[in-house]
Amino acid sequence: MKIGILSAGGDCPGINAAIRGVGKTALLHYGMEVVGIHNGFSGLLDRDVELFTERTLSGILGRGGTILGTSREKPFKKSADGYLSHKPQIIYQNYHELGLDALVCIGGNGTQKTAFKLAKMGLNVVGIPKTIDNDLYGTDFSFGFDTAVSVATDAIDRLHSTASSHKRVMVVEVMGHSAGWIALYAGMAGAADIILLPELGYNLDKVNDKVIERAQRGKPYSIIVLAEGLRTGAESPSDYLSHEIEEATGLETRRTVLGYIQRGGSPSPADRNLATRLGGHATELIVRGEFGRMVGQRNGHMVSVPLQEVAGRTRLVPVDDDLIRCGEKLGISFGH
Ligand code: F6P
Repeated sequence: MKIGILSAGGDCPGINAAIRGVGKTALLHYGMEVVGIHNGFSGLLDRDVELFTERTLSGILGRGGTILGTSREKPFKKSADGYLSHKPQIIYQNYHELGLDALVCIGGNGTQKTAFKLAKMGLNVVGIPKTIDNDLYGTDFSFGFDTAVSVATDAIDRLHSTASSHKRVMVVEVMGHSAGWIALYAGMAGAADIILLPELGYNLDKVNDKVIERAQRGKPYSIIVLAEGLRTGAESPSDYLSHEIEEATGLETRRTVLGYIQRGGSPSPADRNLATRLGGHATELIVRGEFGRMVGQRNGHMVSVPLQEVAGRTRLVPVDDDLIRCGEKLGISFGH
């Protein structure tokens, strides 16, 4: 068998571990041929590929980014006047001309949607969930999330110093797209005083009350962690909230946007192992001929779900998530 691997969408810690997991299982255990496709779906359009050897896959487990490169190419995207391009047909043709028997697509929501559409055209596709946002349906965790939470937690720990020394309110904006997973997990691990999630919304008066109540209890400093997807009506939620809080409470307020450092660099040990297992399991699906599916982890076990169930869905934080309930009992405000 000859299989192709690509990574698409934003980079994320653990992609190389997943590539290695797929590739080494395929090459060394099953004796398959493995083709690396460069720059996401662009590489399938341009036939920008390389034949993998064991050597290509050596020394990459702990490396950030993706050795294959990535892009946000969306071959099924319609033009402004509503027409589909010929890109899907070009990909279909190149897949066959490259002699591929299966295609592994490592990516987030957008990538899995494209993977599903390619599967519907008749290509043998297997998806691997990748995103720091942890917002993919069909898996309890996606690799990259644990690393992003570690980076954000470390940043929050450091911001505590300035908050308490200068008696300031520190507003920290973390990534997550429209979901609040990173804000919740890093906020709790970093002992934030207030955590604001898109799933729960917020009441500005209640946020200000919490900051003032803390000041009255002798703590004129607070750490507020918010998700980038929080809807405030302003372009930058942290910019808007820090301004409003300073106005209302009279306390000096500063904001920090963590940005891309959350998804750069070396993956955590947990992400390396998750990505390795997901990669290995993707190869097993190919061997069994189970296509049109995305691999995932549920309750610690490797599973797979139809791409149809994943495509177009976003997994948000449940409003009654145990970590939220636990935080509320510790006196952490979730903005209500
Ligand atoms: O999906 C990961 C993510 O980092 C989101 O949290 C963020 O909104 C988005 O990608 C930004 O990525 P880019 O600037 O590469 O489009």
